[in-house]
Amino acid sequence: MAGDAAPERADVGAGGDTGAAAFAALVAGLPEQAAEAWDAGRAWTSALAPMPPPRRVVCAGMGGSAVGAGIVATLAASRSATPVEVVRDYEPPALDGASLFVACSFSGETEEVLAAWEAAAVAGAARAAITTGGTLARLAARDGAPAFAFRFGGPPRTALGWGVFPLLALLRRAGALALGDGEAAAAIAALADCRDASAPHAPAPDNEARRLAGRLAGGAPVVFGAGALRVAAGRWAAQIAENAGQWAFAEALPEADHNLVAGFARPPEAARLLRAVLLDAPSSHPRHRRRVALTARELERAGVPREVVHVEGAGVLDTALRASYLGDWVSYYLALANGTDPLDVAPIDRVKAALREPAEGD
Ligand code: F6R
Repeated sequence: MAGDAAPERADVGAGGDTGAAAFAALVAGLPEQAAEAWDAGRAWTSALAPMPPPRRVVCAGMGGSAVGAGIVATLAASRSATPVEVVRDYEPPALDGASLFVACSFSGETEEVLAAWEAAAVAGAARAAITTGGTLARLAARDGAPAFAFRFGGPPRTALGWGVFPLLALLRRAGALALGDGEAAAAIAALADCRDASAPHAPAPDNEARRLAGRLAGGAPVVFGAGALRVAAGRWAAQIAENAGQWAFAEALPEADHNLVAGFARPPEAARLLRAVLLDAPSSHPRHRRRVALTARELERAGVPREVVHVEGAGVLDTALRASYLGDWVSYYLALANGTDPLDVAPIDRVKAALREPAEGD
C-alpha cells in the first residue's frame, strides 16, 4: 500500500445503526454464501442433460447481477478459447444455435435481461437462467430452459457468491471453462481471509478497508484496475455509489495510460475532489504493475491524491474476488462515514418505478 495526502477522516468506525449492522452481516457472510453457491451450482449442473460445448457464451445482467458474470468472463478470458461476454443492455450481440445465453437477474424482473432473453430465443441460442424467481424463472419454465433458482435475504449486490459460483459450475459443465474444485476452494478461502482482515472486528490500523475509507471519504474515488483487477475496479465504483451514496468511477489500465493520463491536471479543482485508487496484485502482468507505478507518478505530478492497493492472490479468480470484496468493505465503511443507509438505493428504485410508467407522449 502506498498513498499520499488525501485527508484522513477519523469517523469511519464499527457501525452501530440497524441498516448498517444488517448490511455488515450480509457482507460478512460472503465466504459462506460462496461455498453454499458452489455446492448448489455443482449439484444443479450435475443433474442437467448433456449439452454440446457452445462456441460462444453471452451472459446478460445489470448492476449487482452482472458483476459475478464479469468475474467469470475475466477468468474465461484468461484460459478459455470460448469467448464469454457480459451484455448489460436490451439487445445481446449476434447469437446463433451454437451460442449459450445465460440470463443473470437476482429479482428476475430486470427489463434489459428479459428483453435479451427473448432476443436470444429468436437467434436460436441455448439458454439458461440464474435467478431468485420472478418473470425470468417463469419464462425459463415456459421455454423449458434450465434455471438455477436460489434464495437470499439481501439485496442483489450482496449476493456476489450466487452470481459467480453457479455460473462457474454451468460453464464448466458446458465445456466452456476449465476449473478445478481446488481453485474454487482457494478463491472461497481468499474471501474468508479478506473478511478476517477487513470486517469491523479487525481493528485499525491493520484494517486496510477502514483506513482506505478514511482516505476516500468526502472525495470522488476513481478506481483503476488492469487484467483481473479491472472487474474489481468496476465493483468498487458500483459499491461505493450504491452503498455509500457517493460518486465513484472505474478506469481500466493500460487504456487510461493512452488517453485519460493526459487530462489529470485540469481542471485544478478536480485534484481537491478526486481520490485515485490503483489496484495492484503480485499475480498481475508485470507491465500492468509497472503501469500502476507510472500512473501513480502522473497522478502525483497532477496533485491528485492516490493510493496503490496491493491485493494478494495466486490466480485470476481468487485475485478478482478478493479485490472486489475489499471494495465491498470499503463501501461499507464509507457508508458509515457518510451516515447513509447502505441498504437504501432509492434513486435506483425511483428510476425502475418510473420506467414501469408510460413515458410522456406514449
Ligand atoms: C441492487 C443492485 C442493483 C441490481 C440491478 C439489477 O442491490 O445491486 O444493481 O442488481 O438493478 O437488478 P437484478 O439484480 O434484480 O436483476
